[in-house]
Amino acid sequence: MPEADASEAQKNYHLDVPQTSDAFFLKGSNCYDWGFKNRLARIFNPASGKTVMLAFDHGYFQGPTTGLERIDVSILPLAPHADALMLTRGILRSIIPPTVRNSVVMRSSGGPSILRELSDERIAVDVEDAVRMNVAAMAVQVFIGGENETQTVHNMTRLVDAGNRFGMPVLGVTAVGKELTRDARYIGLATRICAELGAAFVKTYFVPGFETVTAACPVPIVIAGGKKLPELDALQMARDAIDQGASGVDMGRNIFQSDAPAAMIEAVRGVVHDGMGAAAAHELYETLKAERDG
Ligand code: 5RP
Repeated sequence: MPEADASEAQKNYHLDVPQTSDAFFLKGSNCYDWGFKNRLARIFNPASGKTVMLAFDHGYFQGPTTGLERIDVSILPLAPHADALMLTRGILRSIIPPTVRNSVVMRSSGGPSILRELSDERIAVDVEDAVRMNVAAMAVQVFIGGENETQTVHNMTRLVDAGNRFGMPVLGVTAVGKELTRDARYIGLATRICAELGAAFVKTYFVPGFETVTAACPVPIVIAGGKKLPELDALQMARDAIDQGASGVDMGRNIFQSDAPAAMIEAVRGVVHDGMGAAAAHELYETLKAERDG
């Protein structure tokens, strides 16, 4: 027989403490189910409301990208500095140990290589396999204005439907074709369409007038880093993006192609999570780099 429970007199119901029911901390994300929100809270730090995602999925269309020739050597040591890892399932299963503490945002569209028309993508991961890998979100590329616009939007909406069945958020990634202008009007159009059609958060490029893009997008936006810039310029871009409403960065080349990738990602964290200015973050970068080289 189990021991009898304590008597009513010994119990404490904290009758003077009302149970709280807080709104979820992320923009536009209050109406999702528990598992969906839990996944988002593993990507975005609930304390700052922001995220530093490390993107190294470039190989899915361009093979061994500079800095990603050996992900086990160059990227794994950076994992403890990132909130989330953005990668492909091939790299997850072949290189990333299941003991990492990061959340995983999985590249889930693909097909064409850099040798072909890039927008001709299909869904590349089944949501059931994403759940099996304990993924926190699935990322799909959307080419608004591109040759295969409808097909790529359809890829995203099908993943949103599949994801909703499992509590799996979808990240809409706005791709920019060669022929499209990268300005606030275009980025505002592309990000808004992703949100309207069900993306839980959107990844796009920082452009002048970015505050209008974030204002018009009802879900969080994270910025891609884009081509490698001098470290100070990349940190300034991150600062400007956060100041203009971004909820974080999903940065690749500006981290892993830096002379000191660990120092750079720490500096980016300073900007995103700790409110550092670009100059102070750059000083942190130089200090950490010197420590490494010293
Ligand atoms: C490719 C991607 C990449 O993950 C993205 O471009 C981020 O990397 P980078 O900061 O190097 O631009 O989404 O479509």
